[in-house]
Amino acid sequence: MKYTFNLQLTSNPKTKPDPSTLKFGKVFTDHMFAMEYSTGKGWHDGRIVPYGPIELEPSSSVLHYSQQMFEGLKAYRTADGRILLFRPYKNAARVNETNERMCIPQLDEELFVESIKALVSVDKDWIPTTPGTSLYIRPFIFANENFVGVAPAKKFNYIIICSPVGPYYDTPGGGLLAASIYVEEEYVRAAAGGTGYAKVGGNYAGAMKAQEKAAKLGCDQVLWLDAAQHSYVEEIGTSNAFFMIGNEVITAPLLGTILPGVTRASVIELLQKWGVNVVERRLAIADVLKAHEDGSLKEIFSTGTAAVISPVGKLQFRDTEFIIGNGGVGELSQKLYSEIYGLQTGRIEDYMNWTVEI
Ligand code: COI
Repeated sequence: MKYTFNLQLTSNPKTKPDPSTLKFGKVFTDHMFAMEYSTGKGWHDGRIVPYGPIELEPSSSVLHYSQQMFEGLKAYRTADGRILLFRPYKNAARVNETNERMCIPQLDEELFVESIKALVSVDKDWIPTTPGTSLYIRPFIFANENFVGVAPAKKFNYIIICSPVGPYYDTPGGGLLAASIYVEEEYVRAAAGGTGYAKVGGNYAGAMKAQEKAAKLGCDQVLWLDAAQHSYVEEIGTSNAFFMIGNEVITAPLLGTILPGVTRASVIELLQKWGVNVVERRLAIADVLKAHEDGSLKEIFSTGTAAVISPVGKLQFRDTEFIIGNGGVGELSQKLYSEIYGLQTGRIEDYMNWTVEI
């Protein structure tokens, strides 16, 4: 351990929820991690304290110009009682890619991972073990200077909170559910040169309008197209998107508008290991629809930390609905989900060397 953190335990531990009732992100554990940054002093005062409200002045810069970022990863308890994090150093590297884009100071990768380990160790009894559950870890950093001029802040807060979660999508028994997806041609998520590759709240706030529109049309999520031509597929909702056409599995390349997802990278690495032809290239929505017509479009699925793998059962383009595969959970989607969730929970021996034990 390179870092030590002060620890103040809660005197009011909360009652833990019944794991069978867990939703995504509604319940929080007893403690949180907090640390501050100021120019000259750097990151300092890392500590674990009881989970609770934080006080901000109304002039706090994050409330005005959204200079902030967040991460998301999960901890799992194995059948033999070990606690595993899934590829936390990938998140640590992404923190600094995001921070660089957002003029937020760099955070030592070891500090990031050690702060997570320290908090999860204190709240380890909150890690649920029923199928489909995990402890979702949400680290975030925000500018906190009492100044309403537009400039990078000189003071930041770094906080981590944890939430015992059930499946991201509400399915009986935590199984996979095929989603319906609306192809969004009006709104865009990210343009070249923007913040699409960074994990910042603004990307998600700007996407809510399209999500609301999709929901009104009876769809679960949107399929985002590129901002320049509204032609090429990019992401699905808050996740990366994969298309299986013939024997090829295609996903959008990381050209600045796509979030470099940890699950995305894991799917690519697994498919390569399995000898599946996986390629990162631009794919036009017109070619997806053509492949549907000639029968070569086999599966569509999205990948993310929250849901792991989400199969797509239906695509809506303008007024037409296209059923993908048999409209249910595709074979590859199911296989990827079982393998990745198996590795995450220690049910499958970690032959990829992805998990980090606490
Ligand atoms: C994910 O983990 O898949 C996400 O990006 C969703 C999260 C923002 C709740």
